[in-house]
Amino acid sequence: MKIQEMATPAILLDMDKLERNIEKYQNMCDLYDKEMWPMVKTHKSLAIAKMQADAGATGFLCGTLDECEALCEAGYKNLMYAYPVASAASIRRVIELTRKCNFIIRLDTLEAAEIVDKAAKEAGVIVQYTIIVDCGLHRFGVAPDRIAEMTAKLDEFENLEPMGISTHPGAVYAAEEPRQVPMYVEAEAAAMAMAADGMRKAGIEPEMVTSGSTPTFALSVDDPNIEIYHPGNYVFNDCIQMSNGSATEDDCALTVLATVVSHPSEGLYICDAGAKCLGLDQGAHGNSAIVGFGRVIGHPELVISGLSEEVGKLKVKEGETTTLKVGDQIRMIPNHSCSTANLTDHYIAVRGDEVEGTIRVDIRGNRCNWEF
Ligand SMILES: Cc1ncc(COP(=O)(O)O)c(C=O)c1O
Repeated sequence: MKIQEMATPAILLDMDKLERNIEKYQNMCDLYDKEMWPMVKTHKSLAIAKMQADAGATGFLCGTLDECEALCEAGYKNLMYAYPVASAASIRRVIELTRKCNFIIRLDTLEAAEIVDKAAKEAGVIVQYTIIVDCGLHRFGVAPDRIAEMTAKLDEFENLEPMGISTHPGAVYAAEEPRQVPMYVEAEAAAMAMAADGMRKAGIEPEMVTSGSTPTFALSVDDPNIEIYHPGNYVFNDCIQMSNGSATEDDCALTVLATVVSHPSEGLYICDAGAKCLGLDQGAHGNSAIVGFGRVIGHPELVISGLSEEVGKLKVKEGETTTLKVGDQIRMIPNHSCSTANLTDHYIAVRGDEVEGTIRVDIRGNRCNWEF
């Protein structure tokens, strides 16, 4: 079947671009002898995780415990959960995962450490962790100059085993043009160097120094301290990556296919894909380079100016003209492909104009609560 024959809206995944993105980032890791543990929350798909593992990924970073459990069930051995846990239900899952694979959580407070340590003791397991370093995002994390102190305090918990340090240079998403990215890479490098030293000062050699984001990856992959990289969005890319220079339109693998269904007034067109396909994300960390809710491929004269749940408004820019007409099919690149991916049960796999089949988004959702 050809894309032109497809029902709309549909979320298309260009397999050539996906394969190229996976290969490109893996090759850079290989070139610098680094390990790739990609963040899977972008795609939430076992099939794409397998493509990453086949290309050379040696572990995975997960954004949810659902993803950790699904990857563990699929047989992957090296899994890290990106965030701390503190609820009894989550800790039970962490303990189960610890029994089944080489599982690592992240910690940044003594309070969470105490709760996990107590449960681990009761269960008779040792829970492995890295300490989260705050390299500028100011979300989770310990300041680099406090890592020595935190390492020493956390080391007192008998059923917790320190594995090293982790960070996410997500502050880079405030970058509105490519020339701003190096500043965030320098902050990441300085923070991880200081944090690794801090851990050594506390008497522990960090076995794992891990970091990563798509915009910082190319400039940080040769960092002498960081050994494991966790880019996530790179598999799909999107308007946000184009705004910071880490991707071009040709690198964007995930698009929303829609049909123009109305032209209610001069300069205004309506398509049959809205917020439930594209998402309302305009950059989680704020980014003034993002205008509207995505980019219509081949139509630079259009702005996706508004989204209702199932329909999108396309406005012709002031002083410009368009060839668009009712009945036309359009393809839109989302602002944030991770949000778009989370809105569908399956991607439509395409190569050129040809539809190849579907790829399930099978590790999405709150799986652990399905049985209630
Ligand atoms: C902790 C952590 N690590 C890695 C990533 C991957 O970053 P990116 O999607 O920019 O590649 C994310 C994404 O938000 C994250 O939260």
